[in-house]
Amino acid sequence: MSTTIGEQRARQGATLTDHRCRICGGELHEVFDLGRQPVSNAFAKPEDADKVPFFRLAVGACTSCTMVQQLDTVPPYEMYRADYPYRASGSLLIRRHFEDVARHIIETCPGGRDGFVVEIGSNDGVMLKTLSEAGMRHLGVDPAASAGEVARSHGVNVRTDFFNAETAADIYSEHGHANLIFSANTFSHISYLDSIFEGVGTLLAPDGLFVFEDRSLADILRHNYFDQIYDEHIYLFSVSSVQAMAAHFGFELVDAEHLPLHGGSIRYTVARRGALEPSPAVEKFVAQEKADGLAEKEEAAFVRFSSDVNRIKTDLVSLLHDIRSEGRRVVGYGATSRSATVLNYCGIGADLLPLVCDSTPEKQGRVTPGSKIPVCPPDAFTDPYPDYALLFAWNHAEEIMAKERLFQEKGGRWILYVPEVHTI
Ligand code: TYD
Ligand code: ZN
Repeated sequence: MSTTIGEQRARQGATLTDHRCRICGGELHEVFDLGRQPVSNAFAKPEDADKVPFFRLAVGACTSCTMVQQLDTVPPYEMYRADYPYRASGSLLIRRHFEDVARHIIETCPGGRDGFVVEIGSNDGVMLKTLSEAGMRHLGVDPAASAGEVARSHGVNVRTDFFNAETAADIYSEHGHANLIFSANTFSHISYLDSIFEGVGTLLAPDGLFVFEDRSLADILRHNYFDQIYDEHIYLFSVSSVQAMAAHFGFELVDAEHLPLHGGSIRYTVARRGALEPSPAVEKFVAQEKADGLAEKEEAAFVRFSSDVNRIKTDLVSLLHDIRSEGRRVVGYGATSRSATVLNYCGIGADLLPLVCDSTPEKQGRVTPGSKIPVCPPDAFTDPYPDYALLFAWNHAEEIMAKERLFQEKGGRWILYVPEVHTI
C-alpha cells in the first residue's frame, strides 16, 4: 500500500504555504500566531540545548469544514524520538481515568469479551494494562520505543510504529478486524488523518467503533488555555469539525461526551456511515458551538482570545519581575509540553524562573526546550519550599495542591496563569 499525499507531506514537515485544510482541502485563514517555538518535548541535555529545532506556531481555521489546525507541520520524527519523555501514568487522575475507560471498554466493546481492541498512541500502556489483566485481546501502536518498553513490562502488547494505512493493513492481516479502536490525546497529534481513517476503514469491524478523546476547542477558548497550542496539537477539535471530518472520510460521528480531563476534553465515538443512529448529544454540541461562534466565526472568538493571552503574558512576566526584585524565590512545577508555549511566548528564562521541578525521570537533569531552564526532581521543590510555584501542570491542580498542602501551609503561593494570572 502506498503512503498518502498527506503522509508524505507530514514526513517532510511541509509548510502549508498554500494554506489548505489538511482534511478537506478548503481554504485556511490564520486566527492566532504564537511566533517561533521549539519542539515542546525536546528536553535536551544542557550541552545540546541549542540543537533543539524551532518552527512557527500559528493556527488557522478552515473556511469550509471549520477545522482549526496549525499552518506548519513539524515532522513527526522531530517530535516523537525514541527518548520521547511524556508518560501518561505520571498522574493519579490520568491513571484512574484510563482504568475507567478500560473497564467501560470491557463491558461495552462490540464483539464482547472476545473483542479485539487496538489503541493508537498507547504510550506506557496506562489504559491497555487493565484490558491485558482482564485477558482481552489488544494491541497498542505507538512510535515511542521507551514508553512501549514500559507498557510491555506491564504485560501489554505493543507494536512500536506509527499507525497509518499501511500498518493498519498489516495488523488486520495478522489479527483480523478490531472491534474497537481507541485513542486518547493522540489523534490531534497526527497530521495525515486521511491515512489514519484509511487504516481505521481497513481494520475496523463493520459494527466496530472508533473512539477518541481530545482537548476541546470550546474549552481552550473559553478558559484561555493558550498553552494547549503547541507543536504536537496539530488540530484543535470541535464537535462540528470532527463531525465534518468523519463524514469526509466516509464515517459518522455518532456520539460526543464532555470530559473534565485536561481542562475540558470530548470523547468522540465514530462508526461506519449508517451503522448506528447518532445520539442527540451530537446535534446539541453543534448547536452550542454555533451559538459560541465556533462553527462559523472562529475569527471573532480568537480575537478576544488573543487579547486575553497578550494580557496573561504581560501580567505573568511582571509578576515574575516583582518576585525577583523582592528577593523572593519562585520555581516552576511540572515541565509539561504546554510549558514550552508559555515560557517561549512570554520570553521567560532561567533569570526569572531558575528551575522547574518534575516527577518524570526522563526530563530530570535536562533543560526546558528553548527557554533552557533546568528540570529538577521533586525534592528541589520541597527542600526548602520556594515562596511561589508557577503551576504549569494546572490540569492536575487538585491532585498536586493536595499532595503539596504543606507548601501552602508554610506560606507558599501557587501562581496560575489561566484563565487569568492569579495566585492561590
Ligand atoms: P501533562 O499535563 O500530563 O502533559 P503535557 O506534557 O501534555 O502538558 O504533564 C504533567 C507533567 O507534570 C508531567 O511532566 C509530570 C509532571 N507532574 C509532576 O511533576 N508532579 C505531579 O504530581 C504530577 C501530577 C505531574
Ligand atoms: Zn477543511
